[in-house]
Amino acid sequence: MSCCVVTGAAGFIGSHLCEALLAKGHEVRGCDAFIPYYPRHLKEQNLMGLQGQSGFTFSELDLRQAELMPLLEGADAVFHLAAMAGLMKSWSDFTLYSSCNAEATQRLLAAARDTNCPHFLYVSTSSVYGREATGTEDSLLAPNSPYGITKLAGEQLCRAYEANFGLPLTILRYFSVYGPRQRPDMAYHIIIRALLQGQPFVQYGDGEQTRSNTYCTDSVQASILAFENRAVALGETFNVGGGEVVSLNTVRAMLEELLERRLQIEHRPPRPGDQKHTAAQTEKAQRLLGYAPRTTVCEGLKKQIEWQRAQG
Ligand SMILES: NC(=O)c1ccc[n+]([C@@H]2O[C@H](COP(=O)([O-])OP(=O)(O)OC[C@H]3O[C@@H](n4cnc5c(N)ncnc54)[C@H](O)[C@@H]3O)[C@@H](O)[C@H]2O)c1
Repeated sequence: MSCCVVTGAAGFIGSHLCEALLAKGHEVRGCDAFIPYYPRHLKEQNLMGLQGQSGFTFSELDLRQAELMPLLEGADAVFHLAAMAGLMKSWSDFTLYSSCNAEATQRLLAAARDTNCPHFLYVSTSSVYGREATGTEDSLLAPNSPYGITKLAGEQLCRAYEANFGLPLTILRYFSVYGPRQRPDMAYHIIIRALLQGQPFVQYGDGEQTRSNTYCTDSVQASILAFENRAVALGETFNVGGGEVVSLNTVRAMLEELLERRLQIEHRPPRPGDQKHTAAQTEKAQRLLGYAPRTTVCEGLKKQIEWQRAQG
């Protein structure tokens, strides 16, 4: 049994990761600052399955100010997911993004170095590639939004701590994650909500933008594989995506069929920073980690619908 720190534990993906690590018998120290990008009560709900489980402890703390050594002392790994996610708000509140995504990461890296953390796993994003994210891990990094730029700053801080202090680390670049607990600002969440409530959906662009959607437990699985295969994962960067590439129009049609309703669409031009095409090349994660995404888009959407229905 290992002791794992998970930052952003009350978030969408972080809460799934904590559950999966506990299910594998690990001890988990979760932390989160409940940044009100979306309502606190939703994050508290994310934690409900974790609170009270043996092996799980939670600290409400802000990585930008808190004393971090006690959190990391004696840990076998740190999974760093805490961040300001969501691209659009990053144009209007850059300070929040730069402080949570770069400054907080730097503070955590310094604490990981000072506690001799054996494995730091940084969760990054396909947004570091920019408007198109269709190549392998060594493709040009050209982020096209303040969000992508601050997440890339986090990656580069990781590399600086690795090069100068020998901090052992792995970078995981997630591609569009979906499933139960998906953030309420994300497209599939908004479409399902609009269909359930009979509301119009505001669509940016022509709907032909494509995504390598990754079901939440598949992205979590890749992160755990990187932790379990530390010897091969150290120093590496991995794309983490689902097995299918689908357009927004295709997903909209699937959701309409699953819910047996037609979506009313209000068309708007693409927004600044929006990615056009993502298609995760995951051959490296497959080869080195044995990563294999398991959930098809149709199955994953069904599970997300069930969850959103249960939410009311
Ligand atoms: N959801 C996706 O599709 C996606 C895709 C690529 C990468 N990612 C990355 O995955 C990670 C998790 O994303 P998510 O979708 O679960 O987002 P989320 O907003 O649900 O979770 C992030 C959590 O981090 C916490 N946090 C932010 N700043 C903090 C700070 N200074 N101190 C402590 N906690 C802080 C927030 O309160 C939040 O609960 C992020 O690093 C994000 O960049 C997500």
